[in-house]
Amino acid sequence: MALLPILEFPDPRLRTRAARVDPVELATPAFQTLFDDMFETMYQAPGIGLAASQVDVHKRFMVIDVSEEHDAPRVFVNPTITARSGEQVYQEGCLSVPNIFADVTRAATITVEALDRHGQAFTLEADGLLAVCIQHEMDHLEGKLFVDYLSPLKREMVRKKLLKAKRSAA
Ligand code: NI
Repeated sequence: MALLPILEFPDPRLRTRAARVDPVELATPAFQTLFDDMFETMYQAPGIGLAASQVDVHKRFMVIDVSEEHDAPRVFVNPTITARSGEQVYQEGCLSVPNIFADVTRAATITVEALDRHGQAFTLEADGLLAVCIQHEMDHLEGKLFVDYLSPLKREMVRKKLLKAKRSAA
């Protein structure tokens, strides 16, 4: 397995809208290795979700594990939300927007349909942190980041802060 570089805001590649995965592709060893590498990258970061877009693969899938023990890995390929209800506010962060956290309002409960890593279709009803994470990662597949929910002024502050951090690290 290998750690993959994670794109960081304001990298324009994060704005790419991901293309649907042809389920036939899932059978290829390269794709299965990519899932494993994404889990390893996410756990090491550490994070609870990683969308393919964040590792510069512009296809519609993501890996998620919201468990403390890293024992509940989930892969969502071509996910769609078929029902949503209620509202919840959660202080979100993102591996592509390091060290920035902000409250985002999202649906409290969602029903999501997707394929698993082997191409099997499943339906999942999720709430709490898992629901937040699924919605956050699905935004990435649309080229959307959680900072887009902030005011333009706040987002500009985030952008400057990250560029400054990158400069001083270089
Ligand atoms: Ni993110």
